[in-house]
Amino acid sequence: MALTLGTIVCVDDQAEVRRLLGDVFRARGGNVVGFDDGEDAIAWLARNEADLVVLDLDLGPGRRSGIEICRAIHASRAELPIIILTGHGAIDDAVAAVKAGAVDFITKDPYLEDKLEISVEKVERILQHALDRKRLEDENRELRATNERLRKAAGRRWAIVGDSPLMQNVLSKIEKVAPVPRPVLVLGPRGTGKELDARAIHTLSPRASEPFITINCAAVAESLLESELFGHEEGAFTGATKQKEGKFELADGGTLFLDEIGNMSMDFQAKILRVLEYQRFERVAGSESIQVNVRVIAATNADLKKAIAEGKFRADLYDRLAFETITLPSLSSRMQDVPVLAVYFLGRFRQEVAGINVKEISAGALDRLAQYDYPGNVRELKNVVERAVYMAQSEVLSGADIDGALPPEAQGAPADGQAFTDDPRLALPDRVDAFEAWLCRDALERTRFKQKEAAQLLGMTYDQFRQRYRKYGLGKD
Ligand SMILES: Nc1ncnc2c1ncn2[C@@H]1O[C@H](COP(=O)(O)OP(=O)(O)OP(=O)(O)O)[C@@H](O)[C@H]1O
Ligand SMILES: [Mg+2]
Repeated sequence: MALTLGTIVCVDDQAEVRRLLGDVFRARGGNVVGFDDGEDAIAWLARNEADLVVLDLDLGPGRRSGIEICRAIHASRAELPIIILTGHGAIDDAVAAVKAGAVDFITKDPYLEDKLEISVEKVERILQHALDRKRLEDENRELRATNERLRKAAGRRWAIVGDSPLMQNVLSKIEKVAPVPRPVLVLGPRGTGKELDARAIHTLSPRASEPFITINCAAVAESLLESELFGHEEGAFTGATKQKEGKFELADGGTLFLDEIGNMSMDFQAKILRVLEYQRFERVAGSESIQVNVRVIAATNADLKKAIAEGKFRADLYDRLAFETITLPSLSSRMQDVPVLAVYFLGRFRQEVAGINVKEISAGALDRLAQYDYPGNVRELKNVVERAVYMAQSEVLSGADIDGALPPEAQGAPADGQAFTDDPRLALPDRVDAFEAWLCRDALERTRFKQKEAAQLLGMTYDQFRQRYRKYGLGKD
């Protein structure tokens, strides 16, 4: 059975019609509950779940009409699809039925059985549609709740978001070391938040109102780095037309963030070590010894232990810097943080950019985000979310929006990763069928079992797809 019809309530005062409806729906996997009286059906529906109501219009003399019953059911259960059985050619009745909330009507005549058979396809489609809509509504409700929960979870401490144990551990370390005026070494792959964490340490320290100065040690040639860090006197080198303060002086009283310290020469490392130990240095070409009070936070994505073993990094500088070491885990090792981060980045993006449509992130989009491994870590996730959000048309970010924003190599991975295996022992038509079935199932998985979207993905009409859906028994079970 392709579609699970669920529970169908059939209301008709004629026993043979009820039996007929029962046969037809049961044959298609439905669970049928019959009533000869509308009031009984209403009472039953007040206590039980149903997926479809088939309701006779004329329920016999002295009873409320099907239209009134339909109206009553619709008033309390607007999401429940109701199909009305009308007398032959009773167009007015049909119009009234639809007005009363019915999704469809079928003319009851001597050919009802045949018609029902024919109509089952239509009923299924209506039902599928109603189920899709209901699921969508449920999903939307759930989605808003999830987004709200994630927004709250992203309650962040100093803009660092993440509820994984790994990040909670990082946050505890940051809080603990922040007030201690000693160096901190922040390690971790690119885009994991090293600079963000350095800023958090500064913000949480008693130096928060003093300057936070950053320098990327890999971005300047070493000859210039010296003057950048320690400053120079007038005439120190060609072009040094006036005295200049270095970053250590600028950071006096505050924090200096030495980013990408992995590539300095051993000699230069010795100079840094000296400043760290004595908080004293001279400007380039200067003779005066300058005293500062600077807290240093250093960061690198290089493997310093390996560099030490290779003789490229000084063990004494390492020891000095690593009063506390904070190692940031790659995003792929804490995928639990992806949803909170995604919702957080959406919120930030909305604040930053006017006219962004997207308000929420769908479960499908979160699923999709969870399937990629982010070699660029949090920075890459932020980019993916922002690109998807800015391209998206609707208020809810979909899985397809995420697909469009992921790098090409991450796209189109089968949801389940099941490859097709051909069986060459079979006759050609069977092999073709097997492949077609695989394609349809794959399309379903990619669209999270949304048949309409699967049909679209395969460039088929819905009917063409449904035909294969039934032929190959592609129900989710
Ligand atoms: N836990 C987090 N919560 C919120 N935003 C984060 C988090 N981690 C990283 N980010 C954001 O990701 C981006 C990259 O972070 P950051 O620049 O601190 O990384 P990095 O480790 O210094 O990277 P690189 O090694 O490339 O210099 C920034 O926009 C930052 O705000
Ligand atoms: Mg950085």
